[in-house]
Amino acid sequence: MKEKHGFSSKLGFILAAAGSAVGLGNIWRFPYLAAKYGGGSFLLIYLVLAITFGFALLVTEIAIGRKTGKSALFAFKELDRRSGFIGVLASIVPIIILPYYCVIGGWVLKFATVYLTGGAKDAVADDFFTGFITNPTEPIIWLVIFIVATMVVILLGVNKGIENISKVLMPVLVVLSLIIAIFVITRPGATDGLAYYLKPDLSKINGNAFLAAAGQLFYSMSLAMGIMITYGSYIPKDADIESSVRSIEIFDTAIAFLAGLMIVPAVFVFSGGDQSALQAGPTLMFITLPKVFGSMVASNVIGAAFFILVFFAAVTSSISLMETVVSIFVDMTGKNRKVITVIVTIYTILMAIPSSLGFGVWDNISFNGMSILDMFDFISNSVLMPIVALLTCLFIGFVVKPKTVTDEVKKSTNKFKSEKLYVVLVKWVSPILLVLILVSSILNAFGIIKL
Ligand code: PHE
Repeated sequence: MKEKHGFSSKLGFILAAAGSAVGLGNIWRFPYLAAKYGGGSFLLIYLVLAITFGFALLVTEIAIGRKTGKSALFAFKELDRRSGFIGVLASIVPIIILPYYCVIGGWVLKFATVYLTGGAKDAVADDFFTGFITNPTEPIIWLVIFIVATMVVILLGVNKGIENISKVLMPVLVVLSLIIAIFVITRPGATDGLAYYLKPDLSKINGNAFLAAAGQLFYSMSLAMGIMITYGSYIPKDADIESSVRSIEIFDTAIAFLAGLMIVPAVFVFSGGDQSALQAGPTLMFITLPKVFGSMVASNVIGAAFFILVFFAAVTSSISLMETVVSIFVDMTGKNRKVITVIVTIYTILMAIPSSLGFGVWDNISFNGMSILDMFDFISNSVLMPIVALLTCLFIGFVVKPKTVTDEVKKSTNKFKSEKLYVVLVKWVSPILLVLILVSSILNAFGIIKL
């Protein structure tokens, strides 16, 4: 029996979708991109792209989901028989991402536990993080705990599981973000770092900043991986898609901005204005930040608050990933949701293990200089996602026509305020941007250009 679950209210849907959107990307990646690409000017570019490009893609996916009531795998096929392959490609993305996302989720859980048990001093050591991820068994234990926590929510269902947990975790996440950001920017000397984060550096507005912002945006909004199509299939016909999308965007962007406030000024001050510390990427969260926390009063409290916040952000994202994968297989096989959930969990654990070991005993395996986890990340984020997003826009723009989406949006309120803008964005602006993102990220990965 195929059971179709659903969200009970528009608010529940918004919080669940925001839970998916707000993830490691917001807290970990956004701040260092902002630091790298000129602070305030990057924020501005990001904001403009969010209310245009991000808006168009998000509306599109949610409308496709609600109109067809299906997961990505069949949604495209239902709208046009020849276009089913887009759904297949979109479905591969969460299947690839879920396992490695849980590896990082496990790291976050470990760090939250370290701080909760008073280990702030240990986490300051240079080799604390490296020692942990290179250990053959410990990271695997944490990733299993992370995956099982995700599974429990999925087993409870869309309404009792996803919606209810989002209603608790998302408000807590906002409050924690505010508290940490206020604490950090009121530390001595933080104003210089604050200026560095907020002051536009016009010399850094260039093509790369633009592409970085666009790439970050659609990853951050959980686009092009079937998630928003699946979530869209769970919303009632009378829920207003346009205003929901605006709320989700505001939520996602606000948390990214706050994460920047928590991280950029503190690291800037701690490193004495050394920008390379901020631009180091992955090591920022697990190596630099623990040192910054270690230098503050109440380091255990602030560290615990921070990593709990990151854990909430990560787990609500992995929930959306697992739900999407489960819904794909439920649609495909017609089998019981619970059975599929358990099978997906086992798959996720088995596939996550190589990504985890790639930092330790299997670190000799490398793909063009990338670890196993980075390789999966590259295939999904830099190759498949732009392709899926591009195909989706072309599909809506030229195959089934934007009217398919705009009519669906108008079902609830009879209005679509940004309709004209939407049509231009989905037909022309987004496809052009997506081609640029795709080409540049591939050239960058092969060292042909330097982003
Ligand atoms: N949107 C999430 C973030 O910003 C990323 C994500 C990826 C979410 C994959 C779900 C699935 O981190």
